[in-house]
Amino acid sequence: MLKTHHCGDLRLAQAGQIVTVAGWVHRRRDHGALIFLDLRDRSGLVQVACDAQKSPAAHAVLSAARSEYVVRITGCVRARPAGLANPNLPTGDIEVVAEDAAVLNEARTPPFYINEDAAIDEALRLKYRYLDLRRLPVQQNIVLRHRVVKHIRDYFDRQGFVEVETPMLIKTTPEGARDYVVPSRVHPGHFYALPQSPQQLKQLLMVAGFERYFQIARCFRDEDLRADRQPEFTQLDLEMSFVDRADIMAMIEPLYTELVEHFSDRPILTRPFPVLTYAEAMTRFGSDKPDLRFGMELVDLSDIVADSEFQVFAAALAKGGQVKALVAPGCGGYSRKQLDELGEIAKRFGAQGLAAIARQPDGSARSSIAKFLSAEALADTFERTGAAAGDLVLIVASADRNIVARSLGELRLALGQRLGLARTDFHALCWVVEFPLLEWNAEEARWSAMHHPFTSAMDEDWPLLETDPGRVRAKAYDLVMDGWEVGGGSIRIHRRERQQAMFRALGIGPAEAEEKFGHLLEAFEYGAPPHGGIATGIDRTVAILAGTPSIREVIAFPKTASATDLMFRSPSEITEAQLRELHLKIEAHSRTL
Ligand code: AMO
Repeated sequence: MLKTHHCGDLRLAQAGQIVTVAGWVHRRRDHGALIFLDLRDRSGLVQVACDAQKSPAAHAVLSAARSEYVVRITGCVRARPAGLANPNLPTGDIEVVAEDAAVLNEARTPPFYINEDAAIDEALRLKYRYLDLRRLPVQQNIVLRHRVVKHIRDYFDRQGFVEVETPMLIKTTPEGARDYVVPSRVHPGHFYALPQSPQQLKQLLMVAGFERYFQIARCFRDEDLRADRQPEFTQLDLEMSFVDRADIMAMIEPLYTELVEHFSDRPILTRPFPVLTYAEAMTRFGSDKPDLRFGMELVDLSDIVADSEFQVFAAALAKGGQVKALVAPGCGGYSRKQLDELGEIAKRFGAQGLAAIARQPDGSARSSIAKFLSAEALADTFERTGAAAGDLVLIVASADRNIVARSLGELRLALGQRLGLARTDFHALCWVVEFPLLEWNAEEARWSAMHHPFTSAMDEDWPLLETDPGRVRAKAYDLVMDGWEVGGGSIRIHRRERQQAMFRALGIGPAEAEEKFGHLLEAFEYGAPPHGGIATGIDRTVAILAGTPSIREVIAFPKTASATDLMFRSPSEITEAQLRELHLKIEAHSRTL
């Protein structure tokens, strides 16, 4: 080792000892004959003092040192003089008096301050990620991630799980995104797909008799990116045999409880985690990943306004739709402009408009639609929604119940944030269960799997698959944390006929099923045990534990929102020779990157 101690480890206990430390110049204060350095390594900072009189050679070296130079110092640890201790620094009671100093490497002036907490353009941070990672908050996130993953591995090891690595070069595993594909050099015109998840492989491991599998697994999905999505991300992936839903939940719930207890400064709001059906989550919160850190539940007004003269309500109800509302507390005085802003949010999620009724301080209603509603209907609306004087009732009507739920659900989130309603001193975890097995894909005019095609229907709903596919509920469950979907899983189909029936319902014919999933169908004929599992997002979990809104903050080398790597400048073109080798021809390509 080029050093005897890490900077951040030095304490009064080492006073009087000669130590050698090495690291980066975090800050340098030059008082002429006396130079002070804050020396930084991963463990933290320590102050180095160098006196020109006592150590002229070291002083000359450190006079030339600049921010981010890599230096090595040998000297004696001493207690700082009385009154000069720094209580904010773990090493603040001592300093290292430099006797010998060497510059191990120089550094150009970095493109941003490493030693200050100023806001930095994210593109610059990503381009120089190796410098960004020197910054303490970023480094802490990466260390937290390491500790979380280690905790997870130890937990499953204790529970008798085996971690198995599964291949990256496979065939399509449908999770609802596009595949990243890799051309084969050896087999012209043929491609591997990178796994969207190890879904089929872990099921095959159950057929193989592993019974308890887990993996910290890399997944690849070519989809539109957001703050909580990356094209490559990491899952805690697990699968168990001879289990039902409750067994999987009972394996994950204690783990997430431990993770919060060990790695977050906030407790869990409700334990055991509440279990909501999908229908209940949509009805009450307008979301299948409800943020339970605040209330503001949706209220059905359909019966109250059924006789109203307001055309929008009448039309929605006549078509079998709904009229629902939520209450924005204390927003009764909102201006036209503020109401329009809220209306825009509702419209983004399909609502045609947003009606608002303010309850005035005197209890009366102020609203452009009040004239269409009877006094009784207004009074009932206030009563059912619980709107108090000064509150605002926001109403969405649509023939499509999903639009009512989604637009109000999004409004709820936006208002919750704007009004600071979420309890940020707690984590709220819950399970959402009984998802629909299928959802109608209007664009392609066919049913698609809401989770993935390997998910089993609930036992009593199998007969509906042929007659009323939209009503079939799945043995699927999601884990939701603070309004983020952190995990999803299901009990699987483990019989060939059932899997074929599912493919049929999805419009996948026998030939296509054989071509794409023949290996799985065949495996089911060799004694596949009943099995099920779940995968949770490591990136999302760590981001929530770290209290950061973007998963990019907890990934060492993340991609931008347009899936580029600014440091490598990838994706990038490949050479003509490589293209030839891979039997590929580029027809037309843009050079927009
Ligand atoms: P699912 O598709 O729900 O299930 O994914 C599981 C969890 O992975 C995380 N996740 C992502 N994180 C970051 N970026 C992304 N692009 C991304 N996509 C998903 C989420 C999500 O809850 N094979 C099934 C699991 C199973 O059935 O066992 C699966 O992958 O936190």
